[in-house]
Amino acid sequence: MGTLMVGSLGPAVVVQAARQYGTPLYLYDERTIVERCRNVLAMPNAFGLHAGYAMKANANRAIVQLVAREGIGIDASSLNEVRRARMAGIASRRIVLTTQEVPEGADRSELETLMSEGLLYNACSLRQLHLVAEFAARTRARLSMRVNPGVGSGETVTRNTGDNYSSFGIHMTQLAEATSQARKRGLTIEQVHVHIGSGGDPAVWQSNVDRMLAITEQYFPSARTLNLGGGFKEARMPEEIAADVQALGHYAERRFRQFAERTGRRLVMAVEPGTYVMANSGYLVTSVIDKKWSGPEGFEFLVVNGGMECNTRPALYGSRHPFYVVSANGSVLSSDFDPAVKQQPGRVVAGRCCESGDSQTLDAEGHVVPRPMADPSVGDYVVIGGVGAYCASMSVFNYNSHRQAPEVLLREDGSLQLIRRRQTLEQITANEFALDE
Ligand code: LLP
Repeated sequence: MGTLMVGSLGPAVVVQAARQYGTPLYLYDERTIVERCRNVLAMPNAFGLHAGYAMKANANRAIVQLVAREGIGIDASSLNEVRRARMAGIASRRIVLTTQEVPEGADRSELETLMSEGLLYNACSLRQLHLVAEFAARTRARLSMRVNPGVGSGETVTRNTGDNYSSFGIHMTQLAEATSQARKRGLTIEQVHVHIGSGGDPAVWQSNVDRMLAITEQYFPSARTLNLGGGFKEARMPEEIAADVQALGHYAERRFRQFAERTGRRLVMAVEPGTYVMANSGYLVTSVIDKKWSGPEGFEFLVVNGGMECNTRPALYGSRHPFYVVSANGSVLSSDFDPAVKQQPGRVVAGRCCESGDSQTLDAEGHVVPRPMADPSVGDYVVIGGVGAYCASMSVFNYNSHRQAPEVLLREDGSLQLIRRRQTLEQITANEFALDE
């Protein structure tokens, strides 16, 4: 058992991080992040590739800087994300803003400044287009348009952003109106954008390339870039199958070339991965704080000190994340990536929140589903994999007044760098006021 790894990490570094920064903590692996960025940039393409990191996956400043250092721009989903990217030193012209809200008031003037600096604004509704039209026409600001193609695919229905249940983008049936408005107001739409969902079927992602090329041909005569969004299906568990990103690139490359032969237009391809870059680059290190039993008809529970407030994805989607049980002195007692784990009895990993749904072993209906793993002692660690994306950035983190966990980056040289410290109780209560007398 001594040779087992904790994903891409050696167990010693996990224990070192836990001792140095306390648990629970998020531990990210720079090497994996860099490798993922390079894979994205190596995607085959016909006439150029722009990659933007969907920073909603993990908006930590050091992560944004790391990804940008590799040559990837930023997909921001709110003005605050743009501000955070700017704080990380990212130039406005490397940022695309795709948001449900058009900033107003003082925020609006800030948006205009950012657009004047080269930020690409992605109009996601007729109203958004209307609201930016006058400014964009006057200043020749860069514009993109998000399309809802009517067909999408997500790992769950809640992550499908491309069909008629989704409010994202300008629906296909309104494109004639949207593009005619844009024309009348003298706007040039330089990018056509789509994002049909997260973790969906790669075959649908692929067929969407054709759908979007046809839409670009029909409605967007001056667009130079087709942005296909993110959504590459990732495998967190050993039995899951990830999308083959290079194969998707090959397919798109061929179709972009055929499009160019037919139309004379050499479109640049853009992609916006979040999950692909970060999901398997992050681990949540938790300590076992208790062990319980819910009776002869029930389950063996391991209570850990980082559950739904650190990784809400099981409760939200029934997502499965791999477990590594690591002893306090650093030997890996079981790993979901070791076939021998199947011989272990099933256990339920529960968090410390007062919520029956605070479990890391749930199905999509919220039932606990025991998973085979070694029997740790209180004080040992349960490390949860696949948590680099949408965990630190998307969790119910102050529930039960638990503090946000720190984020630590394992650098390529083997050192540990704290990239966000643990929240304090004072920070949780900083904006509260006592009851007036
Ligand atoms: N571009 C746009 C416009 C997006 O809305 C998203 C994700 C992405 C790119 C990146 O998608 P990705 O490569 O990460 O699939 N919280 C969910 C995922 C929701 C993503 C929302 N938008 C999860 O934990 O699976």
